Formats: sequence, structure tokens, C-alpha cells
Amino acid sequence: MTTQGWIGRPSGEPLHVIPHVVLGVGGGIAAYKAALLLRLLTESGHDVTVVPTAAALRFVGAPTWEALSGKPVSSEVWSDVSRVPHVQIGKNADLVVVAPATADLLARAAAGLADDLLTTTLLTAHCPVVFAPAMHTEMWEHAATQANIATLTARGAHIVPPASGRLTGADTGPGRLPDAEEIFAVCQRLLSGSEAGGPLAGRRVVVSAGGTREPLDPVRYLGNRSSGKQGYALAQVAAARGATVTLVAANTSLPAPTGVDVVPVGTALELQDAVAQAAKDADVVVMAAAVADFRPKAYAAAKIKKTHAATVDGGPDESAPTIELVRNPDILAGLVEHRGAAERPLIVGFAAETGDETGSVLDLARAKLARKGCDLLVANEVGVDKAFGTDANTVHLLFRDGLPGSPRDHTAGPAPKAEIAAVVWDGVQALLDPR
Ligand code: CTP
Repeated sequence: MTTQGWIGRPSGEPLHVIPHVVLGVGGGIAAYKAALLLRLLTESGHDVTVVPTAAALRFVGAPTWEALSGKPVSSEVWSDVSRVPHVQIGKNADLVVVAPATADLLARAAAGLADDLLTTTLLTAHCPVVFAPAMHTEMWEHAATQANIATLTARGAHIVPPASGRLTGADTGPGRLPDAEEIFAVCQRLLSGSEAGGPLAGRRVVVSAGGTREPLDPVRYLGNRSSGKQGYALAQVAAARGATVTLVAANTSLPAPTGVDVVPVGTALELQDAVAQAAKDADVVVMAAAVADFRPKAYAAAKIKKTHAATVDGGPDESAPTIELVRNPDILAGLVEHRGAAERPLIVGFAAETGDETGSVLDLARAKLARKGCDLLVANEVGVDKAFGTDANTVHLLFRDGLPGSPRDHTAGPAPKAEIAAVVWDGVQALLDPR
């Protein structure tokens, strides 16, 4: 028999594309600070299950955790028994973080007790586990607590040491729960596959997402219906697989994915600059953004009025204005041209197609792949109810030179955008590391 600690999966890859995090909350006064940690985790796109101890619920009640996580919470093993939560929650987790971890909870975890939902979850988790202890200085410094910390560390747990400062009473010293941001940063680092050597560890990738807006005047723009969801999913999956990710985001309102550097942009020209800058030392550039092909030739510094300049006979001119457009650069084609004969970066394009009288979605996508010269083109069918803003997508992966031993084209979906992102990165990884 081999014994099992909390090291993480051998592949280094999380179990889920959207990481499943268990937030264990111990019964200490600092439990209220865990609500902020929960907020940081959910807003950055994690699926969070809160498991408070019974004592924690005396400090912060279940409605707070349920409202903030969007899920029911329980501290004992007797609810929802048919789903076997005392085993499933831990087995299904990509990360367990316990904050605050009280002296009692650390002792129970170190002893391997299994007398409530949080301790059973800790015994069944096969993923990184973080403890953020918080207690009075005397309890923290006691040999029993330090021995428990040593035991948990030896089993692979990550300890975020308590901060020094004002404690519950008038006393000060080490024992305060560290700031939620600090605990969150540790979670992010552990969830990004880089720590465990994920399949994209050591790779730098750039993803563009969203849709550019070309301003006409201070209140109007020419834009498109891209939500950015597919690009964000691509960035999130790349980070989870260990890549260092820069996400150039055009006009999106999505939470920044865990561990991803987000560069916000507005127009096509801004996106071009940001991508060019980030692509300098990149291994892969994925152009998932919907880039406006044209922009207004002139920008009106003041709002364009419905009734404008007077006509020759002195009356108001109510004719509709004509807006002259100029071409925006083709950023994707420019990246391919700039790369020239070099092997990197690997360049991935997206093709949003509706199909028309000249050809089907696939015909148009194959022609686009040839025209743009990128290594992989991900074609998706768009229309009023398809792809834009939705959570699912169907795509065709078209490889310029094919993949050794597999067909040149590959179809994926309909599937959630996170799963589509995983399929795209599988294709990119096969190009980066041909077997
Ligand atoms: N793209 C780009 N720069 C542009 C337009 C598009 O880099 N000015 C990129 C997109 O990010 C995408 C790919 O090119 O990766 C295809 O975008 P799409 O809008 O489908 O194609 P277009 O080049 O605009 O061609 P068409 O409008 O003729 O379909």
C-alpha cells in the first residue's frame, strides 16, 4: 500500500477546466475574513464549495456562505447523504483551502480525525491543500500546534503563516489570519499548473479576447457582439496548464482568470500594439478577439448631432451623415508576416463564419486559413443565437500542415467554451511537442 498526502495530481493538471475549490472555514473570529477570500475566488471564475465547521457557523452563518458561493453549505455528513458528500467533495476538489485554520482544526486534521464534513473532505482530497492558521499567539506557539503544523507540512500541506498584529482582545502578536489577498495568491499559484509542471509549464502565451470598438464620437462606436468568453476560457485553461498568460482583452466585462495578466484595450490599433508587445517573447499567440476590419476615418471630438450644419437656403440639414471608413490592419496576418521563417510564436487564428452563397462555414474557413497563413485556425459558426455571448460552442480545428498521425481537420462540440478551450490547447500542445 502506498500512503497518500496532499501533493496534487501526477499530470500536474487540475481535474476541471474551471477549478473546483473547497473553502474550509474553521470556528475562529477570523471566519468573517474568509468571506472576502470566497469573493476573490468566485469572482476570478472558480467553482467554490464552502465547508464550514459547526463552530464556524456560530461566527458567520450559512446564509452568508450560501449567498456568496451560490451553493448550499453543510458542516456535517448527515445531509444529502445519497450524494456521499463526505467523499465526493474532497475527491472532486482541485484545491482545498482552510481559512481560518484554528488550533483545534489543525489538531484534528493532523490526527486524521473524520468527525465532520471538513475533516472527511481533507482525508479524501487528492489535491493541494492550504491551511491559513489563525489563533492567539500562545496557542500558535504551543509545541502541540507546532507539531501538528510539522505533521501537516510533511504530508504535503501548504501553510500560510499567520501575520503579526492586533488579535481579538487588546493583545498583539503572531496569530492573525493573513489578508485574503495573500491567501488567494497562494491558491492561484497552486492552481496554476506551473507549480506542478503542467503541460504548458515554461511556455509564454498571448490570447486576445473580446471585440474591438472603433469610436465615432465621444458616445458612439462601431463594435461587434463578441463577449470574450471563449478567449477568457482559453486564457484560463492555458494558465491552469502552467503557461504564463497575457490576455489582451478588448471591451470585456468578465472577471480576470486566475493567474493571468490582463491588458485591457479598446480599439483594433490598441489591440495590435498590445499583442505585438506581448508576442515578442511568446511561444504561442491565439487571436480569439473579434477585430473590427474598418474604423471611421475621422473621429468627431463633439457628439454628432441629428440635425447638423445649416443648408444653403438657411434651413437645418436633417439628412443622414455619411461615415467614411478606413481599413484596420489585419493583426493576425501581420503576426504571421512578422514571424517570417522563424518557428515561434506558433500562431492560432479564429474564424467567425456564417457561411454564404460562396461557400459553407468550412469552405470559407479553409480559404481563410490559406489566406492568413497561421498554424491552426479554429472556425466557429456564428449567428444571432450561435456562439456570441453563449456558454457553448462548436468549432472545427483546421491545421495548416496537419498533425502527424491524425486527420487535418477536427470538430469539437457543442461543448462549454472551457471544454472547447481544452481541445484547442490539446491541438496547440501537439504542435509544440510533436511526438
Ligand atoms: N483578425 C485580425 N485583424 C483583423 C481582423 C481579424 O487579426 N483586422 C483576426 C481575428 O482575431 C481572427 C481571424 O483574424 O483570429 C479571423 O477573423 P474574422 O473576423 O473571421 O476574419 P476577417 O479577417 O475579418 O475576414 P472576413 O471579414 O473576410 O471574414
